Amino acid sequence: LLKRIQIIDTCLQRRIVTNAVEPSNVLKNEVNGEQEGWKAFDAIQLERQEQAERSVLISCHSKTNEKKFLKYLSIHGDIKNSFFYESYGTYAVVEFANQESIASLHEAVNLPVVSNESVVPFKSRLLSLRSLGAAVVPNSQTGPKCKPQATIPLTELIQRLSKEESIDHQVTSLMKAYQVTEENTRLRFLVCSLLKDIAAAYFPECNVRPFGSSVNGFGKLGCDLDMFLDLDSISGRNVPMPKAGLVLEYQMKRSNSERAVTQSILSVVGECVDRFGPGCVGVQKILNARCPLVRFSHQPSNFQCDLTANNRVAMKTSELLYLYGCLDGRVRGLVFAVRCWARVHSVTSSIPGAWISNFSLTVMVLFYLQRRAAPLIPTLDHLRSLAGPADKSVIEGNDCTFVSDLSKIQPQDNTETLEQLLCGFFHFYSTFPFARKSINIRKGKEQTKPEVVPLHIQNPFEVSLNVSKNVNAAQLERFVALCQEGAWQLEQSATLTRGTGHAPSPWGLAALLVPAAGAPGIKGRKKRKREPASERIKSLLESLKNKV
Ligand code: GTP
Ligand code: MG
Repeated sequence: LLKRIQIIDTCLQRRIVTNAVEPSNVLKNEVNGEQEGWKAFDAIQLERQEQAERSVLISCHSKTNEKKFLKYLSIHGDIKNSFFYESYGTYAVVEFANQESIASLHEAVNLPVVSNESVVPFKSRLLSLRSLGAAVVPNSQTGPKCKPQATIPLTELIQRLSKEESIDHQVTSLMKAYQVTEENTRLRFLVCSLLKDIAAAYFPECNVRPFGSSVNGFGKLGCDLDMFLDLDSISGRNVPMPKAGLVLEYQMKRSNSERAVTQSILSVVGECVDRFGPGCVGVQKILNARCPLVRFSHQPSNFQCDLTANNRVAMKTSELLYLYGCLDGRVRGLVFAVRCWARVHSVTSSIPGAWISNFSLTVMVLFYLQRRAAPLIPTLDHLRSLAGPADKSVIEGNDCTFVSDLSKIQPQDNTETLEQLLCGFFHFYSTFPFARKSINIRKGKEQTKPEVVPLHIQNPFEVSLNVSKNVNAAQLERFVALCQEGAWQLEQSATLTRGTGHAPSPWGLAALLVPAAGAPGIKGRKKRKREPASERIKSLLESLKNKV
């Protein structure tokens, strides 16, 4: 009976926490079969992709009259959803109810008339609305209401959090302000779909799928867009071969390794993105990295994009993180709080280098949650043991099997608050034996380090790899020192009387997010001396080489 009461209690907590911070694509999760609203990762991906294929991205005047604009477009069919946003101008994302509307639209759209220039006549779903006179789409006084696609400034976030009554509320508030929104998620899938149209010129059956923080539930507004050119769906691989008689097969170019094939494909697709892709600028082909990629900026969405191919393990990793995030609202809360704290104190950076990556940090949070006296999340080995036949997945010899159905996972007994968990995180890593031990979420236990490196975090699926191979000793020491300071600060917060009034002074999580004096990038502070360009490029190349 006691066990059941505890489980019900945890369920209630799971429900409360999850509801409090309901993100865009991670819906409520409830236990014991009543998982109404919760969707498996693959189902969400499919739904979003299909939605994106019925959508167009239109650059328009900032004072566009929304009603008349939508009426004008609706001659092509019913509009299911639309929103406006600002990014180097005003844009609208318009989702039609039916795919046929896109064909109808394509028939009606004009090629641009330009003087003194020429255009590449590649027809995409990135369009511009030009007003040739007030009669067509007259502008309004105010313009459409735009949905934000970027986070609020740090100072505003700190003020907002300082007004909350508990650290748990602060975490919820942080997530509300920072997490990828419904509209931002739509835009991410739409950009993938636009990229797919480019790659489909060569590979009509291909798919371009987002992975990483765009879909794993830990994404922050403004995070990069990691994309994967998926050629696995190309038909003909599993066509049964007759035992005898005639058989036709395609003649195809051959290469001596899968990596060489990936490099060729990315090189050509990268070239097309560069030369034909509207809105794609600053294209760099980084084909010699461990995971070859094409990096570019998609200007209309303001996304920094990384296009990879043959990267199925990363897709599986994203699904695993998504599942862990759905298990209990506190997981996402803690990851958001730690990631935000780490960014403020330059533990992580948007530039690759010898520092801890957001991905490594997320795995560290998960590991810590597995190591609580009452673990908050199960080990990967446990998730593997719950897998059904349909969950079986082996990618390039790596066992990536784990259960995909949340209802098969028993809730854990942990009832700690986010305040306790955050404080516990700092204590845990203040004293972690990094010199001897490796972090391992598969076993949920520290393991003896297999190699001499400052920080060893076993890759959950490619188990011989260390996801934090790039981290140097100085960065790890900084992290540990900051954890000690974080633990101390939170303990101080507990004993302090909280400020009240219009602008209370930062406390709890808000105090943790106040950058240290002398830190770079803060108003009124001395600018950090930039290292020479050659050093930065060297460090960038080094980190790409090391990216595992
Ligand atoms: P942010 O972009 O920083 O918000 O987080 P992210 O999780 O998207 O990280 P990132 O863009 O660096 O990487 C995208 C995805 O690639 C991650 O979510 C992982 O699935 C995978 N990934 C990143 N770094 C590594 C690594 O070192 N090893 C492995 N195996 N996978 C990685
Ligand atoms: Mg990313």
